[in-house]
Amino acid sequence: MKFYIDTANIDQIREAASIGILDGVTTNPTLLSREAGKGTYTEILKEICSIVKGPVSAEVVSLNCEGMVSEAKELAKIAENIVIKIPMCSEGLKAVKILENENIRCNVTLIFTPIQALLAAKAGASFCSPFVGRLDDINSYGMDVVRDIVTIFNNYEIPTEVIVASIRNPLHVLEAALAGADIATIPYKVIQQLIKHPLTDIGIERFLKDWEKVQK
Ligand code: E4P
Repeated sequence: MKFYIDTANIDQIREAASIGILDGVTTNPTLLSREAGKGTYTEILKEICSIVKGPVSAEVVSLNCEGMVSEAKELAKIAENIVIKIPMCSEGLKAVKILENENIRCNVTLIFTPIQALLAAKAGASFCSPFVGRLDDINSYGMDVVRDIVTIFNNYEIPTEVIVASIRNPLHVLEAALAGADIATIPYKVIQQLIKHPLTDIGIERFLKDWEKVQK
């Protein structure tokens, strides 16, 4: 499973990239708004694309197909690895078809049902993003949607990659991997939680203490 980071924060992206586990980045208008004052939308995305060579999702904000396509074409000029995030809706599906035909990769976002994911795939999207945390927040099993999407895509050998999004904790990452999702896009805090374990820390401390004893 590939690991993306779900942030527009340059320091977090640099740190995750330096660990060597980063395959891509997803941003959205909310995440970019948290970086206000650090540069324009374009400047921030350009910097992200220079750090991470894998796909970097940048979201359009237009609500009609024409607007989405024109925004997407501008965003695609930023770097070769930009992927256009398009919200799940009729206009969005129309835009995906046009953009993918022009070799501009799209990530259909805000997916909450397996059939929405199938529609995104039928429109030709390179990626689709089911949001597990937001489903969990309203008492639905977000990961059930992911499992169903993976089954459907396997049934029909659909090449659209499944990005598990809206991840809130390490168990979401584990379940995404068990479900066979292609990608998990993970907030920085959760990446840190994935690395750490109290028994690992205790183990390191104990080995160091024992090593010191041998040195005396
Ligand atoms: C994914 O592409 C989205 O940017 C993100 O995962 C949304 O997560 P949230 O539900 O925590 O806002």
